[in-house]
Amino acid sequence: MSDKSSNQMWGGRFAAGPDAIMEAINASIGFDKRMAAQDIAGSRAHAAMLAAQGIVTPSDAEAMREGLLTVLSEIETGDFAFSTALEDIHMNVEARLKGIIGEPAGRLHTGRSRNDQVATDFRLWVRDQLDAASSGLTALISALVAQAEAGADWVMPGFTHLQTAQPVTWGHHMMAYVEMFARDLSRVQDARKRMNESPLGAAALAGTSFPIDRDMTAQALGFDRPMANSLDAVSDRDFALEFLSVASISAMHLSRFAEELVIWSSAQFRFVTLSDRFSTGSSIMPQKKNPDAAELIRAKIGRIFGANVALMMVMKGLPLAYSKDMQEDKEQVFDAADNWMLALAAMEGMVKDMTANRANLEAAASAGFSTATDLADWLVRTLDLPFREAHHVTGSLVAMAERKGCDLPDLTLQDMQSVHADITADVFEVLGVHNSVASRTSYGGTAPVRVREQIARWKEVLE
Ligand code: ARG
Repeated sequence: MSDKSSNQMWGGRFAAGPDAIMEAINASIGFDKRMAAQDIAGSRAHAAMLAAQGIVTPSDAEAMREGLLTVLSEIETGDFAFSTALEDIHMNVEARLKGIIGEPAGRLHTGRSRNDQVATDFRLWVRDQLDAASSGLTALISALVAQAEAGADWVMPGFTHLQTAQPVTWGHHMMAYVEMFARDLSRVQDARKRMNESPLGAAALAGTSFPIDRDMTAQALGFDRPMANSLDAVSDRDFALEFLSVASISAMHLSRFAEELVIWSSAQFRFVTLSDRFSTGSSIMPQKKNPDAAELIRAKIGRIFGANVALMMVMKGLPLAYSKDMQEDKEQVFDAADNWMLALAAMEGMVKDMTANRANLEAAASAGFSTATDLADWLVRTLDLPFREAHHVTGSLVAMAERKGCDLPDLTLQDMQSVHADITADVFEVLGVHNSVASRTSYGGTAPVRVREQIARWKEVLE
């Protein structure tokens, strides 16, 4: 292989080897070796099919299949010498196979091209990552449901514009993230279904004149069917783009939650205490416990969005079918996958380990006139005021409380009646945060009774 005068794979047409710079820009072995197991699985399926179709002899196919297992174990144990001169994982594996079994190795590439080979390897790799994401999301969802169950009726402030809006329950807030991550999970499953078709046998772009059996290789590799158009099969990277889009949306959810954890764990909020296992200290300030995992999740998400945009850019100008530009698909997807999986696992760990500070949540829930809407609703229900007028009356009461430096429940009945004479002492019942959340029983609302129904539903789904 290190025969510099020409290349083992296409040396017939070439008199000279590549320039060193050409080799550097051309080689993908530095990163596509991560697809070694997929490459070997694809080749083993192809070899078996070639024999079944009488294209190679059974003994040659057996030698290939056995030899490929030897190559795999060499790679797994770190005994494999990857060569940049051999460009990529496909040629590295094939060259080593030749070293082990000799002449039959040269028959493996019959009816196949690196174009359908790389498309197959990469699909298998992305499919594994979709499965890993399913597990990671499911574990995170379980951890959130457990948190929700522990504090289904704990009150906390709900925010809009990060200003106190209305009291909600801790369980409700946790279950909001369950819904978000569950949509991610359904997108993962949906993407997996759509991508699970085999490009193998599309050959370079036009198919092959050998009597191959694409159904057989598709089945052997766990694909639902072969892809129907050979041009599309070698030029399509939608599966990688869908992976990155699904990952991006999920990453956005992770980042929003991370942001909340950063805010909630601050000394000013103290809504949650993160465990020592998922925090760090400061080298100078002894009191510090920093939410680094949350911050890094929030930051790493940018790489995933970047990968999505980068691959879109790679693909958008390419004529059919394969172009070498497409070799730039892998590093983006590898990096995004690594960071998505890491972020999912870190988030699961943080959620499992964190402690919600019930008393602080409750104290914060009562601050900021959070039951003003309950008061306005009471005026509508009890005094039959139009909502707009009730809103105005309540606004005046909030302004009064603000002047007096107290909360709404601390106003006297006299205070209340000075703004609207018909207000009665009953009003104080709706000003408590527990009554407030308990009253929001509409479907999907924050009332503990509704939240517990959702928790029960999810626990069933998770089983
Ligand atoms: N290393 C290449 C890639 O990742 C494999 C396919 C090469 N095909 C070709 N026609 N040069 O895309």
